[in-house]
Amino acid sequence: MFMHTSLARLIGCTLLLVAQAGLAELKPDQPTVLITGANRGIGLEFVQQISARGWNVIATARNPDEATELQALAKVHPGVVIEKLDVTDHPGIDTLAARYKDQPVDVLISNAAITPRLKTAFSGKAAMIDYDVARNSLETNALGAIKVASTFLPNVMASQQKKIVFISSKGGSFGEGPKGPIMFEYRASKAALNMLVYTFSYETKNKGVTTIALSPGSVNTEPAPGEFGYGKKIRQPGAIEPAESVSAMLKVMDGLTTAQNGQFLDYKDGRVLAW
Ligand SMILES: NC(=O)c1ccc[n+]([C@@H]2O[C@H](COP(=O)([O-])OP(=O)(O)OC[C@H]3O[C@@H](n4cnc5c(N)ncnc54)[C@H](OP(=O)(O)O)[C@@H]3O)[C@@H](O)[C@H]2O)c1
Repeated sequence: MFMHTSLARLIGCTLLLVAQAGLAELKPDQPTVLITGANRGIGLEFVQQISARGWNVIATARNPDEATELQALAKVHPGVVIEKLDVTDHPGIDTLAARYKDQPVDVLISNAAITPRLKTAFSGKAAMIDYDVARNSLETNALGAIKVASTFLPNVMASQQKKIVFISSKGGSFGEGPKGPIMFEYRASKAALNMLVYTFSYETKNKGVTTIALSPGSVNTEPAPGEFGYGKKIRQPGAIEPAESVSAMLKVMDGLTTAQNGQFLDYKDGRVLAW
């Protein structure tokens, strides 16, 4: 009996230590940022620039084992903790939030998205809408984003900075989006996201949290293996590099005030965009 109890305690302690391994890396005297889709593109650039400040970064990715660039960053910056998170996996979001329940999150950056590098993106015909892509985009870009933000809202409320930033797109705006029949799947998902952000902002206002949607501009990020256009290095005309977009977005985010809660802002100068 004694042996069993001791063994059970030992196993319990070991499991607890393993579960808390990520949290142990976070520096209590530094702000903490949680980022979704942190393994590539704009998300990875956020990790790079924020970790260079010495801040803590909870960098989440669907497949951390394959996130070699993120792993390399975490080796250099001990404040970067990598966590597995698929934003469509609601029980997985709840489990991660439970592990971090006592961890303040100063800035939550909802960045993960299905981006429109697909054959149908520029089809010009509603008849060519890929309904699987459309459903996946809504699930990821809109519903996944609000699920992560609402689940981690207590962590943001417990922090100093209290900011939630949803990376959206002008493509989801009636006023700012392209005037043509393109990217049906993506634009619908970002318009849905914008409305969720707008509606959520009434809730966060009462909690002292500033919630915004932020356009990153047109940014040269690369398609992943398996995505349409992979390896072709096609540059979007007039697009900027991730480093430029992210440093401008960080400036906007640093200067955020509670008066900006519920707004859709541009990366460049923080101007208010039409929903
Ligand atoms: N690039 C632009 O010109 C542009 C313009 C306007 C808005 N945006 C927005 O900016 C953000 C970042 O764009 P980006 O160009 O960096 O995109 P990207 O290079 O395509 O990267 C997308 C990221 O989202 C992740 N992701 C996709 N589905 C996910 C899921 N279910 N759970 C967790 N992570 C998931 C991807 O992970 P995997 O590696 O596992 O796929 C990847 O890390 C997006 O919200 C995008 O809509 C970009």
